[in-house]
Amino acid sequence: MQVLHRVDEVRRHVDAARFRGASVGLVPTMGALHAGHASLVERAAAECDEVVVTVFVNPLQFATGEDLAAYPRTLDGDVRLADTHGASVVFAPEESEMYPGGRDAVLTEVTVAGLSRRWEGSSRPTHFAGVCTVVAKLFNIVGPCRAYFGEKDFQQLAVLTRMVDDLSFPVHVVGCPTVREPDGLALSSRNVYLDPDQRREARVLSAALRDAVSAYRSGVRDAAGLREVMGNRIATATGGVVDYAVVVDRRTLEPVDRADADSRLLVAVAFGATRLLDNASVIGPVGGDDA
Ligand code: PAJ
Repeated sequence: MQVLHRVDEVRRHVDAARFRGASVGLVPTMGALHAGHASLVERAAAECDEVVVTVFVNPLQFATGEDLAAYPRTLDGDVRLADTHGASVVFAPEESEMYPGGRDAVLTEVTVAGLSRRWEGSSRPTHFAGVCTVVAKLFNIVGPCRAYFGEKDFQQLAVLTRMVDDLSFPVHVVGCPTVREPDGLALSSRNVYLDPDQRREARVLSAALRDAVSAYRSGVRDAAGLREVMGNRIATATGGVVDYAVVVDRRTLEPVDRADADSRLLVAVAFGATRLLDNASVIGPVGGDDA
């Protein structure tokens, strides 16, 4: 496996691979890799001949005051994990390689209107434009046939899928299931910020989703009823503040009044300065115990 830092080196590598007829898979990440990221790399390695994992903490998607400087950076461990799970290249550029004039000199941005506005977009209005812009750049640098993203960040997956459709990127977006801790907490690089009490209580997110999936299975279709079920479970975490716990259409992300098999449950809960996200289809499954 190779670790490359420059755009021209990556282009040379993937050009040669495509010339041989190899299919190229891309797994974009911000590093601090864990088993959730590993599942994306494994899936890409199973489906593509060459797998490029990118490790880049993208400043464009962090607003002033967010955790850009504190975001965990663990490149040596990331390279080992990517290698173990079948990557052929880790592309880890410096900020100056991706944004040669600095982040403020970027004049072109990709915005997926509508889908980016609600939920994560309402507390982070510039976030998804930053995500789309860097992912569009990575698509242009790597030229993948398939790109792998986690359902864990469901709104991000929906926004990027729409960007690819609207702009006709020649890439197939593959959504991969959320990998969880045994108690159900979705793995996230930000879980390290939780103190022991917050970590114990953080299981309420997946528990709330499981409660709503059981309610749906037992016949509850009214979105207000499902929201109440989730809200009640999250309220058992004294340290958590609900940002949203909603039932939306899985493609438009607009709230629905009545749930059906195309509905998605989205939750965001703040524990101190750490916001945790989770989501599931109303028909499940949601992993984790319900102890
Ligand atoms: P990052 O948070 O590092 O996540 C990289 C990819 O891993 C995303 O597609 C995310 O959904 C997926 N992922 C994270 N936790 C997961 C879990 N528990 N199970 C399954 N997949 C999981 O998301 C980003 O980086 C950035 O916004 C990026 C797309 C790289 C653009 O900068």
